[in-house]
Amino acid sequence: MSTTSEMRARIRSDIDLARALMLVRRYAEEKGFPEIPVAQLCTAASELGRNILKYAGQGTLKVKTVHEARGTGIELEVKDQGPGIEDIEAALRDHVSTGGTLGLGLPGVKRMMDTFHIESKPGRGTRVVVRKWR
Ligand SMILES: Nc1ncnc2c1ncn2[C@@H]1O[C@H](COP(=O)(O)OP(=O)(O)O)[C@@H](O)[C@H]1O
Ligand SMILES: [Mg+2]
Repeated sequence: MSTTSEMRARIRSDIDLARALMLVRRYAEEKGFPEIPVAQLCTAASELGRNILKYAGQGTLKVKTVHEARGTGIELEVKDQGPGIEDIEAALRDHVSTGGTLGLGLPGVKRMMDTFHIESKPGRGTRVVVRKWR
């Protein structure tokens, strides 16, 4: 696998999500990432993918390698064209959920990753980009 390779997966079902998580794991392991960041990347992909299925119905996951002065990182981009998030600040707070669940997905992902970026427009969709260094 070359260092510029990018992988994508469409997420429309639980099975798609399970496959996407295996893809993230394999990708990170092939890049030589240790177990803990691999697990964190899988957890992030799982939470963000779960949000797609629950709130948007379908979306996409992209995985790629990024190079910076600090070394090699893995970037996940998780995107949908669902209903979007009205109040992003609230959604990033612990225990805020419009879906009756724990409300720890987005804040947990933010804590677990080295960089976290979210953009969302009501009626247009949501895009989350995270990076993790090894
Ligand atoms: N892809 C998404 N599309 C629309 N709303 C979302 C999406 N992801 C998260 N949200 C909103 O952000 C809130 C917080 O998400 P999260 O922290 O994962 O908690 P939970 O999934 O338990 O509700 C959700 O309740 C929902 O309102
Ligand atoms: Mg969630």
